Amino acid sequence: MTKWRFDTNAVHSGHTGFHPDSMSVPIYQSVAYPFEDAAEAAEIFAATKPGYTYGRWDNPTVEVFEKRLAALEGAEAAIATSSGMAAIFLLAHHLAEAGDEIVSSNRVYGGTFCLFETGLKRMGVKVNWVTNPESIEAWQAAITPRTRFLFVESPSNPGLFIADLRKLSQLAKSLRLPLVVDNTICTPALQRPIELGADMVVHSTTKYICGNASSLGGIIAGSKELVDGIRKGPMRYIGPSMSPFNAWLNLSGLEDLSLRMERHCQSALTLANYLHDHPLVESVNYPGLRDNHYYDLARSQMKGCSSLMSFVVKGTFQDAVAVINALELWVLATHLGTCKTIVTHPASTTHSGMGEEELRKAGIPPTMIRVSVGLEDPADIIADIQQALAKVESNLTSRRERKLVEPVAQS
Ligand SMILES: Cc1ncc(COP(=O)(O)O)c(C=O)c1O
Repeated sequence: MTKWRFDTNAVHSGHTGFHPDSMSVPIYQSVAYPFEDAAEAAEIFAATKPGYTYGRWDNPTVEVFEKRLAALEGAEAAIATSSGMAAIFLLAHHLAEAGDEIVSSNRVYGGTFCLFETGLKRMGVKVNWVTNPESIEAWQAAITPRTRFLFVESPSNPGLFIADLRKLSQLAKSLRLPLVVDNTICTPALQRPIELGADMVVHSTTKYICGNASSLGGIIAGSKELVDGIRKGPMRYIGPSMSPFNAWLNLSGLEDLSLRMERHCQSALTLANYLHDHPLVESVNYPGLRDNHYYDLARSQMKGCSSLMSFVVKGTFQDAVAVINALELWVLATHLGTCKTIVTHPASTTHSGMGEEELRKAGIPPTMIRVSVGLEDPADIIADIQQALAKVESNLTSRRERKLVEPVAQS
């Protein structure tokens, strides 16, 4: 643990011991680290002498990123991975084995849903989905003697469900089960789950932490025992490690993370208010809106609501798609958390692996549009959706008028 505050850690933590020293963290683009002699090699492998062994589980550049993320999350240690999915897989693989069960909120990213539902099942691990994750009783009911951990994504992608992390960690502690929180959407700049009682945090650092859509990455933060266990175990025999260059790109992202998150939050609230009052918009999911169901809970555990939101268009799937196709500035892509505003249609892309019934249960209708608000001028962000909605609105109006006229014309 360092003595510094968040923004100082984001710039300095972990950057020590390089010779010669440097302003920017050096990229150690090397797989192995030659030893003085066989005795030193054995000592470093046995961890009786400090040093690096092999790039799949240790690298000086990646280590700076791991130490910095641990400091920012208030965790004892962290281990970086090649992607967010790799982090969730490694953690699940480390904590559960064939015959075991896990309990997870069903409001999760589509890839996580498929990993738990299909991937873990193939390894003999069963997932008990909590389809009403607001209810602590529902979590309790899903737990059995075979449960090995509880998993929650908060805020969730794309529905912006917010879990009561304090209450959920109390439940986990009372049953001596670890609570894992996917903190991708908030980042530690806005939410620190370990301070709220969680045991472990995972991230897709690909998103806000990297911030410019240039590199995949993931992290698991938690106790030293957990991180050492993963590093000596599945990281060695599975090997989804973060590359030194990606660690360097992610480190650059951390340096201005809290400044970016502040701007993301401000612009997102401006857009959410605009959408909220638009006649073509049925509903907006953004916990920063005063009338949002999670407004008070979000304020009690988050410093800001980040910039992911979803809204439901009045009309049909075709109308939602027409809005997306009419956008000129917003980038249509399956990504979030970057400087560019990104629009996504979850039901047909990121969450398409869930199937119709599971999408319905998770509250993801075909008319839902997801937006990750970027760092452009907020006036340009609004102007783009304004013109897109106007185009679709005029089509809808003429369709309605035709319907009113047609029966008269036929009679
Ligand atoms: C909340 C969340 N967790 C995990 C992931 C997976 O991350 P990655 O794409 O880095 O594997 C994503 C991807 O969108 C996500 O949104």
